[in-house]
Amino acid sequence: VKRVRTHHLREMKQRGEKFTMLTAYEQYAAQTFDEAGIDVLLVGDSASNNVFANETSLPVTVDELIPLARAVSRSVRRALVVADLPFGSYQASPEQAYLTAVRFMKEANAHAIKLEGGLEMVPQVRKLTEGGIPVMAHIGFTPQSEHNLGGYRVQGRGEAAARVVEEARGMEAAGAFAVVMEMVPGDVAAEVTKAVSIPTIGIGAGVDCDGQVLVWQDAFGLRTGRMPRFVKQYADLRGVLLDAARAYADDVRAGSFPGPEHTF
Ligand code: KIV
Ligand code: NA
Repeated sequence: VKRVRTHHLREMKQRGEKFTMLTAYEQYAAQTFDEAGIDVLLVGDSASNNVFANETSLPVTVDELIPLARAVSRSVRRALVVADLPFGSYQASPEQAYLTAVRFMKEANAHAIKLEGGLEMVPQVRKLTEGGIPVMAHIGFTPQSEHNLGGYRVQGRGEAAARVVEEARGMEAAGAFAVVMEMVPGDVAAEVTKAVSIPTIGIGAGVDCDGQVLVWQDAFGLRTGRMPRFVKQYADLRGVLLDAARAYADDVRAGSFPGPEHTF
């Protein structure tokens, strides 16, 4: 199998072919999604919520994310592995961003990194790309800034639409190879997708983006409870695991597991 490279995503955009991205934080999910042909796996800082049980993405650290990114990159044969730079590990300066990104490339074998922010991140994106590190940008709603943005809110409504277009153009000019747009009105995301030649990847940004991304525990029903409107549930993994765990417990309590066939 041929590895997915950043230029393949750009070529897919040019051909009008959609591509796919999911989060992944460990071996078996990564292997499975790679086998399913998911093009890009994101070791998101959403591991903060989905692995480390924090309420937001803010507490997760570089030292916590690197082993997850290493596991994912070891587990794929085809997918492009992108690692998120966590809150506080790149905002201070382009140099800080570069040193953090280098850790993900060297210690975790990531193929690219992702960082959040608009025009204020242009120096960071430029520094990384000039230093040989592919950068995926992330604009619109950026969870690391949730306290600044006043919570989970759609970005780019009305007057603010032009700003989203400017941010995407700025990221392209700075050298980003793709841009994630989170919680942006569908018509604005469509306009951005036409305005830039790098691929756009939507999460809550409508059907006209070049690719789509979801958090896998949300999409496949491992996490339950209130879900954002942009999530579609493709499976009920929580239900599958609940049934399996209960069946195992029932067997043990009833003395029907292990059976002779499991016994030496
Ligand atoms: O961390 C994450 O999961 C993300 C995606 C939702 C884009 O940044
Ligand atoms: Na993220």
